[in-house]
Amino acid sequence: MAIRPADHLAIIDAARVLRDGGLVAFPTETVYGLGADATDGRAVARIFEAKGRPKFNPLIVHVASLEMAAQLGVFPEQARALAAAFWPGALTLVVERTPDCPASDLVSAGLSTIALRMPAHEIARDLIAAAGVPLAAPSANPSESLSPTLAAHVAEGLGAHVGMILDGGPCPLGVESTVCAIFGDEVIQLRPGAIPRDAIENVVGKLSDRALDEKHSPGQLARHYAPRTPLRLNAETAAAGEALLAFGPNVPPHDAPSRNLSPSGDLGEAAANLFAMLRELDASSASSIAVMPIPSAGLGEAINDRLSRAAEPAS
Ligand code: TXA
Ligand code: MG
Repeated sequence: MAIRPADHLAIIDAARVLRDGGLVAFPTETVYGLGADATDGRAVARIFEAKGRPKFNPLIVHVASLEMAAQLGVFPEQARALAAAFWPGALTLVVERTPDCPASDLVSAGLSTIALRMPAHEIARDLIAAAGVPLAAPSANPSESLSPTLAAHVAEGLGAHVGMILDGGPCPLGVESTVCAIFGDEVIQLRPGAIPRDAIENVVGKLSDRALDEKHSPGQLARHYAPRTPLRLNAETAAAGEALLAFGPNVPPHDAPSRNLSPSGDLGEAAANLFAMLRELDASSASSIAVMPIPSAGLGEAINDRLSRAAEPAS
């Protein structure tokens, strides 16, 4: 495995690794992705092996243009409106596969749908364009563990399995994309993420509150995004032996190892810091990590979703 600064030459080399069926980790505006040529079933299978990901959990396919997206998925009006409003960006759209969809069936894990996203990060866009194929890319971490927001996080978790890691520095948003499924006129949020619910509802109106069954929303494992150290949520302060993940200006006095997601109480800053700070506190030898309450508005929905899954005990 080689970590390389993502300059022009490294991107050209990475595109070659991808065309040869290899895996390349690359930065996006949300988290680092573990990419493979989405049209090559053997390459896609390597992603599942590297992550230890259950085969029933489908992958997001990343595109560099609307033309590429239209070859893969059928866009009803609401999907077109969402793509126009948020692409390139941190919104993933789950739509029906086209009849002659060139992506491997493995990316859809047996469903008739495909998840598509056009990332905004320049390195991701350049890489897809250089490879000339859509890229299947889940977050570049072992299944269930914390998502990577730095190249070093990828090396730590998956180093042995990746052909190349393109280093583009820290991911600016820090939480994964919002995933929405579109069925005709109905829009269902499958995963809260970096685009808040309100912003989506401004474009398509109220989201449907119908919950999809597990088969159609297979990604919502109760335990996910989890550090090794247990989490204690909505904590007032740290108890003896605990570490403290604080939020906002009013942090009670403590002598625990601590990080503050955002001293000014800014949810965007908190999202960007979330996974890296959880990793740092996970490395302290605390018995558990006490997490102060985070407001649930806007990006708080995604932050609290990740925290509650991280707090779920290992089975
Ligand atoms: O920000 C992101 O979305 C990052 C970057 C790398 O793009 N990717 C990411 O991928 O978070 P992953 O695999 O960790 O999460 C993808 C989510 C999973 O919950 C998966 O179940 C869901 O999207 N998903 C993918 N395809 C689907 C489909 N056809 N139907 C329903 N859910 C799908
Ligand atoms: Mg993931």
